[in-house]
Amino acid sequence: MRPGREDDLFAVLELWHAEVRAGRQDCVPGEAHMTKLLAGFDWGARSRMVEGANGVEAAVLVAGRPTPGGTVTQISVACERPALRNDLLRWGLDLSKAAGAVAAQVWSGRGHSDGLAELGAHYVRPWWRMDMDLTGALPNPQPVAGYVVRDGNQVAPGGWSEVHNRSFADHWRFSPRYEAELVTGRLPHLALMAITDKGGPAAVTLAHLESYAEDARPQPVGLVSSVGTVPEHRRRGLATWLVAEALRRLRKEGAASASLYVDGWNHTRAFDAYRKLGFELSFESEVWEATFQ
Ligand SMILES: CC(C)(COP(=O)(O)OP(=O)(O)OC[C@H]1O[C@@H](n2cnc3c(N)ncnc32)[C@H](O)[C@@H]1OP(=O)(O)O)[C@@H](O)C(=O)NCCC(=O)NCCS
Repeated sequence: MRPGREDDLFAVLELWHAEVRAGRQDCVPGEAHMTKLLAGFDWGARSRMVEGANGVEAAVLVAGRPTPGGTVTQISVACERPALRNDLLRWGLDLSKAAGAVAAQVWSGRGHSDGLAELGAHYVRPWWRMDMDLTGALPNPQPVAGYVVRDGNQVAPGGWSEVHNRSFADHWRFSPRYEAELVTGRLPHLALMAITDKGGPAAVTLAHLESYAEDARPQPVGLVSSVGTVPEHRRRGLATWLVAEALRRLRKEGAASASLYVDGWNHTRAFDAYRKLGFELSFESEVWEATFQ
C-alpha cells in the first residue's frame, strides 16, 4: 500500500467503474463533480493505493467537509476483495479519527455494506438517486402568485449561499456552502431563485449538465441539486415550480435525462414532490457512519 498521487486518478476511475458494475456505487462521478471533489485534494495524506501485478488494484480516498458540529469525512473505497476492502475502510476510519473528524461516512449500494458494523459504523439512512427521462412530456412550471423566478444573470452576488444555507439549515448533516462553490462554473440560466415581489429570496434550485461514461442513463444528464425553500415559504409550490423550470432549461441545454439525490428519510419529504414531477427511484445507497465524539 502506498500514498496516492494526482496521476492515480485514471486508475481510480477505472476501479470505480468496477464498483458500479458490482452494484456497490451508483455511478462514476461526472467530470464537473469530480473536479470539484478533488480541487486541492491532498492525495499523499488522504489516499492510499494498493499495487498488484497489473497496477493499482484497490484505492481508498478520504474527503472532508465542514459542518456546524465539526468535520465529517467521506471514505470512498474501490476494491474487489472483501478482506482488503475492510482494511482500506479501517485506514480511512483511523485517518478520520486522527484528523479530528466528528464522524466518518461510507456510502455503498444497498446490501453491499458487509463488515461496516464490525468496524464500528452504523447505518444512518438510505440515500436515493432519482431519475427522469427528459425526452418525453415535461411537467409544466406552475408559477406561484406573489413570487417571480430569477436566474444567475439577475441575482446579486452573495444571494445564492444565503438562500441555500437558510433552506438547508435543518437538513441532516447540513454543511454551509460558500457562494463560489454554488455558482462557479455553472451556466447562469441554470441557477434559479424564487423571490417575493418585495425582493425577498424564498427558494433555490441549481442545475448543471454531466456526461457519464458506461452509464445506462440517456446522456448527457441534467443534475438537479440544492433544491431548497426557506421555511416560511414552504408548501406553496415553489420547489415544484423551480424544478419544473430547471428541467425545461436542462432539456434546452441538451440533457436527455435528469437525476437528483435525496435523503430517503428527508423530514420535509422532498422525494414526494420529486415523484409528482416524474422522478423515480433508480438507485439506493446505504449511508453508514462512525462517530468519534
Ligand atoms: C423539500 C423542499 C425543497 C420542498 O419545498 P417547497 O417549496 O415546500 O415544495 P412545494 O411547495 O413545491 O411542494 C411541497 C409540498 O407542498 C405541497 N403544496 C404545494 N403547494 C401547496 C399549497 N398551496 N398548499 C398546500 N400544499 C402545497 C406540494 O403538493 C408538495 O406536497 P408533497 O410533499 O405531498 O408532494 C423544502 O421543504 C426544503 O427546503 N426542505 C429542506 C431542504 C431539503 O431537504 N431539500 C431537498 C434536498 S434533496
